[in-house]
Amino acid sequence: MAGGADAGGLWRRKPIERLTEDATAGEHALHRTLGPLSLVGLGIGAIIGAGLFSLTGIAAAEHAGPAVVLSFAIAALGCAFAGMCYSELASMIPVSGSAYTYAYATMGEFIAWIIGWDLVLEYAVGAATVSVSWSKYVVTLLQDWGIALPARLVHSPFETVTLADGSTAQGIVNLPAALILVVISLLLVRGVRESARVNAVIVVVKVAVVLAVIGVGFFYVKSQNYVPFIPQNTGSFGEYGWSGIMRAAGVVFFAYIGFDAVSTAAQEVKNPQRNMMIGILGSLAICTVLYIAFAGVLTGLVRYDAMKGDAAPVATAIQQTPFPWLQTLVTLGVIAGFTTVMLVLLYGQSRVFYAMAQDRLLPRFFATIHPTWRTPYRSNLFFMVLAALLGGFLPISQLGHMTSIGTLLAFVIVCAGVIIMRRTHPELERGYRTPLVPFVPIAGIVVCLAMMVSLDGETWLRLVIWLAIGLAIYFGYGRRHSRVGRERALGGAHTR
Ligand code: ALA
Repeated sequence: MAGGADAGGLWRRKPIERLTEDATAGEHALHRTLGPLSLVGLGIGAIIGAGLFSLTGIAAAEHAGPAVVLSFAIAALGCAFAGMCYSELASMIPVSGSAYTYAYATMGEFIAWIIGWDLVLEYAVGAATVSVSWSKYVVTLLQDWGIALPARLVHSPFETVTLADGSTAQGIVNLPAALILVVISLLLVRGVRESARVNAVIVVVKVAVVLAVIGVGFFYVKSQNYVPFIPQNTGSFGEYGWSGIMRAAGVVFFAYIGFDAVSTAAQEVKNPQRNMMIGILGSLAICTVLYIAFAGVLTGLVRYDAMKGDAAPVATAIQQTPFPWLQTLVTLGVIAGFTTVMLVLLYGQSRVFYAMAQDRLLPRFFATIHPTWRTPYRSNLFFMVLAALLGGFLPISQLGHMTSIGTLLAFVIVCAGVIIMRRTHPELERGYRTPLVPFVPIAGIVVCLAMMVSLDGETWLRLVIWLAIGLAIYFGYGRRHSRVGRERALGGAHTR
């Protein structure tokens, strides 16, 4: 490859010391305002959302029966392995950028680019996925209150809707989904402390909703609904039995996505070496306990086969109790809860993009911090437009599967990163050490790959296309503009 900027080639790595320098560089420095509690809040804010409130009933009805609690445990295990690896890397590389930054220091620029590009699927596409589910909850609630929004303006062009006169037509745009993404992005532009405050309030409401369903529902559980606990497999892979439990684990994996977004905040965290681990593993642990309890109560309240296609299992659960008036309150809580998922995912997205632009793998334009609000506002606005287009014009299933495959790929690379770092940088101080290396990272890779394999061929094809577009941008732009590459070519002080 011609050009001095290519020094070090595809595998050139960014020196760790350089990462930390970047994080503190004068005009680019973000404010360090977040403590351990805010981080756990950030994690829970990103985690509990459409996955729990829309997929639990479907996973039980179609794949696992009451044993969906085991599916939640299995998905949590995969996330815990990846979460420990994230924690180790985050505790030694305390700068913005999440898995992207870790990969740059460990596996080189090319892999870093792939992961940064891939994270768009987890964060921006993830936020778009949740916006569609949010829209559905809002539209249904308004309907219950006698307010009917025009059907074609609350569905994507891929969905068929029934109009008032009984005829059918395609949707035009999911306007509420697009609008909520715009509002949240603007809030993020305004500042991370403000966003963290809004997040904290809503997280309390959201956890209260989950606890209320568990606490109230527990007393109305019918033990016969748990029999059979693992319904017999129908003969098809994934329809009950153990294969059904595994398939359901792949489905409910979506519910755990987001804990890693905590790592994108490293540059805004006080004492990141210690607090990142608390944020990542703490939020994951709390959500795992809540999820398993929620799934247990839900399948005890409603027989699993009565929840086929039920995307609002909370409503179904409440109907089994003598407190139907709880319904509206809980729905309002769920709607509020979804907003923090979008908030944290879009927050993470803008930080990753900012880090990539700082490294000049993306145009410098995105590396500018707002003079007053100290936020990477151009990244926020860029993803405001992109996510709003996705949420407005694509159906939820395609968005959701893309989110899952993108996230799983990121987890695989992060797990591999821990093994590599232990070999290449054994001496570096680690605020947190993943136990049983290499067993835990390898187990993480295996579980995540298994969940990726369980996704359909079309999703894989989209992933390949997405990565191909990313490669075109890297070879067309990033590789030549890379700051690490340029400095190496010039024999700069930071080269190894
Ligand atoms: N885990 C997040 C949710 O379920 C993405 O909405």
